[in-house]
Amino acid sequence: MDYLFRESSSFNLRFGLATLLLGYWTYLYIQKGRQFEADVMFGERHGCLPIEKKLPYKWPLALDVFKRQYDAAVAGNLMAFQSQYFKDTNVGQTFQVKLLGRIGYFTNDPKNIEAIVSTNFEDWGLRATRDGLYSMIGSGIFTQDGAPWKHSRELLRRQFMRIQYQDVKVFDGPIDDLLATLASSSGVVDLQPEFFKFTLATTTSLIFGEPFAGLDPKDHEAFGENFDYASLVSAMRLRLADWCFLYTPRKYTKTCDQVKKYAMRYVDHALMDMKEHGEEAALEHHPFILDLYKELHDPILVRDQLMNVLIAGRDTTACLMSWSIYLLVRHPAALERLRQEIRSTVEIGQPLTRGQINKMSYLKCIFNETNRLYTNIPVNVRETLKTTVLPRGGGPDGNSPVLIRKGYGIGFSPYHMHRSKELYGEDANDFRPERWEEPELKNIGCGARVCLGKDFALTEASYGIVRILQTYPNLRLPPDVPIVPSGQEKQIITFVVASAEGCKVLLD
Ligand code: HEM
Repeated sequence: MDYLFRESSSFNLRFGLATLLLGYWTYLYIQKGRQFEADVMFGERHGCLPIEKKLPYKWPLALDVFKRQYDAAVAGNLMAFQSQYFKDTNVGQTFQVKLLGRIGYFTNDPKNIEAIVSTNFEDWGLRATRDGLYSMIGSGIFTQDGAPWKHSRELLRRQFMRIQYQDVKVFDGPIDDLLATLASSSGVVDLQPEFFKFTLATTTSLIFGEPFAGLDPKDHEAFGENFDYASLVSAMRLRLADWCFLYTPRKYTKTCDQVKKYAMRYVDHALMDMKEHGEEAALEHHPFILDLYKELHDPILVRDQLMNVLIAGRDTTACLMSWSIYLLVRHPAALERLRQEIRSTVEIGQPLTRGQINKMSYLKCIFNETNRLYTNIPVNVRETLKTTVLPRGGGPDGNSPVLIRKGYGIGFSPYHMHRSKELYGEDANDFRPERWEEPELKNIGCGARVCLGKDFALTEASYGIVRILQTYPNLRLPPDVPIVPSGQEKQIITFVVASAEGCKVLLD
């Protein structure tokens, strides 16, 4: 009797669980169906048509597309390969991709990019970026969405407002070091690695504050190397998006820890300073760290925000400086016009000021043009947080809106957009700074996530470039360096586009 009772109660339990599970699945199924219907109606309301352009592939799971991209990246021509591949396969500006069985989208269309970064900004999130970057930079402005992102942006915006008025003398130490290195070099010199060192020094001093005795030069050197390696792997992981877990070398985990440990030592040092000498005195030496700490109350969160700014600030400005000189030595007329502007703005022997930099309008055109051709973050990614619409890409002609359901990823490429002949004319691939003097040309904005460090970056790059050109009035292209059309030179793609062959110049 007892046995029968146990058997039947165990049966009841299993039956109950199965019913519950079935009920739950049915509920999910119905919900999914409802969501699907709601999406269809939403699409109809916006006049959406299905996307017809699809990136073709030959091997299962589109592994050939991965392989060809990988080969092109190794050969240093990923961007050129992509633009040719898109042309050859006639996929237009917006198309569907199916990689490893997962559907996603890609666009170079300015209207769609504007929708992603600006008009429908709230519909798009950073999950893929977060997964790729989290090990290196933790939780901060580049890995957050929604309210946490808004909070980070507000905190950092205040920091950048403060430094907007700081004296350009802060760049003197790093530029003097760079010029000292150049003075001890002879023959052909590669400026690109020097610019990377320069911007590492300026950005670390911006965020970490004054150096302290607890670190010796070897620590800084090791940090620089670890930071380089960790950024390189993070950028690769970013491109792998959902599959970034496939590329997590052990060395990567180790270097990420070391880079974060280095930043943490500055945070600890600033907090110790505050404890020992009081808030007011300590703020003088480490304003960035202590202002963040006052809001975040957690040293780890402060460290992560610092890492986020570091990753934003180092390579971007170094590449802007490097490509600017790279292009100027290949365009002697533009270089001469810039030299004239410098001569007529700054008296010989007088220190360079922020006011003088602000007056150099041709230098601004050069930076605009360089940023156009060698866009930082050449390919970016987002994922839909809710079902949304892209203004173009649907229907046979690709001009109708397209429905993008919740949870789908998109890659968008400012690099390809910036070389569009429709937008910039027949000479879109050429370096012509004067185009920025034409009234109708405007920078295509970055939307809500617009760069917070723009002023700092442009002031720093201007200061560095002017000081170099003042020091070397004969700076020029070495005679045996071949000139190739812009976009066809070898490139290294990380978060940014760097020149694989550096920025070689003759100084005297
Ligand atoms: C030539 C130099 C630079 C360029 C071209 C550049 C470009 C950009 C771009 C395109 C974004 C938007 C990223 C996105 O939408 O995913 C961005 C965001 C950002 N940049 Fe810059 N950047 C430069 C230098 C700097 C520097 C030097 C700093 C700091 C020291 C900095 C700090 C930031 C921050 C904090 C954000 C995040 C904004 C947000 O997500 O709300 N940038 N930058």
